Amino acid sequence: MKTFSAFRIFDEATSHSTKLSSGVRRDGLSHAQLAKNDSQVADYEESAAGRFVELTLDDLDEGEVVIRSHYSSVNYKDALAATCAGKIIRRYPCVGGIDVSGVVESSADARFNVGDRVLVTGYGMGVSHDGGFSEYVRVPADWVVPLPSGLTLFDAMALGTAGFTAALCIHRLEQNELKPENGKVIVTGATGGVASLAIAMLAQLGYQVVAVTGKNSVHDYLKSLGAAEILSRNDLSMGTRPLEKAQWAGALDSVGGEILAWLTRTMQQNGAIASFGNAGGMELNTTVMPFILRGVRLIGIDSAETKMPLRREIWQRLASSLYPKVLEKIVHTVSFRQLPDTFSPMLQGESTGRTVIQFAVAK
Ligand SMILES: NC(=O)c1ccc[n+]([C@@H]2O[C@H](COP(=O)([O-])OP(=O)(O)OC[C@H]3O[C@@H](n4cnc5c(N)ncnc54)[C@H](OP(=O)(O)O)[C@@H]3O)[C@@H](O)[C@H]2O)c1
Repeated sequence: MKTFSAFRIFDEATSHSTKLSSGVRRDGLSHAQLAKNDSQVADYEESAAGRFVELTLDDLDEGEVVIRSHYSSVNYKDALAATCAGKIIRRYPCVGGIDVSGVVESSADARFNVGDRVLVTGYGMGVSHDGGFSEYVRVPADWVVPLPSGLTLFDAMALGTAGFTAALCIHRLEQNELKPENGKVIVTGATGGVASLAIAMLAQLGYQVVAVTGKNSVHDYLKSLGAAEILSRNDLSMGTRPLEKAQWAGALDSVGGEILAWLTRTMQQNGAIASFGNAGGMELNTTVMPFILRGVRLIGIDSAETKMPLRREIWQRLASSLYPKVLEKIVHTVSFRQLPDTFSPMLQGESTGRTVIQFAVAK
């Protein structure tokens, strides 16, 4: 049976104990072979929970649609999962990767035909179901989105879960009456994947965007995406009162913790916050005052479980009015073999924009 490469994540304790003293691993590749193939992969494999393995289709979780992967992408959640830095994986071992785009190889569902170009983001992919860090992916047909016309397979992953989340935040804020004329929109974790894309999309829609970043050297980058104003995360004067000066009509928050609490205290009357991330913490210490005196709305965003009709609508917007014209400034591409190098910078908050994973078939 045909084999292919996948980046599988093991329970950390198990992953170390499965290595034999002879240097032969459970997937059958010796360290010497790995070192010959790619020394960086061998080094990485010593210290982390994810590693490259050879699989057959029978090894993958069940589903009606088999996809030949062309591109995947790296999200913060993927970096947490691959390094066991967060409790992301629900079932070990699991192929990582919450995003994939590619071409249908086989389908037992009438909605999809061999050769269709498709994408999948979220649901259980790379969490409880084998995911997109694999040359082949097998998923339930209900998770598969036909590639919207106007997007390439590359675009779909340059956007990926990050772009989908940015667009979903904007959609939810607009449903809560956000308009460009209401005032400034603030985006935190500005150089991150979701935030970079959100800044570009908002600027394109005519919003005045304020970007909050922890990196001092990226102001030109953020301006080139469309940020009108840049605040340094480390120099924010947050105050301590339940209500501080009202500044923002809308907010998109990657960070959580103290920054999200500060946002609640500085929103304008009827301002709306889309809370989608926890890169800075899970806590939220605020009071009810912003909600009962300023009518502030705190909107939770869960991209992974977005229902299919809305999912398709958002992807249509991503292929049209929300497609960021500056996408190439936000994205860099690495080969599948370079995947393990991407996790640590992302978890240290050092990465910028989006990382697309290119499979050999797409070269
Ligand atoms: N709810 C959902 O559906 C959904 C979907 C996608 C992502 N997310 C979450 O959204 C967040 C961002 O995801 P992403 O893929 O865009 O990640 P990312 O590319 O790694 O971006 C995160 C950004 O947050 C900032 N940051 C990092 N560490 C920080 C810290 N300790 N304190 C404050 N800011 C910090 C950094 O930007 P600066 O240096 O510019 O400040 C960093 O670039 C993550 O928490 C992720 O899990 C949620």
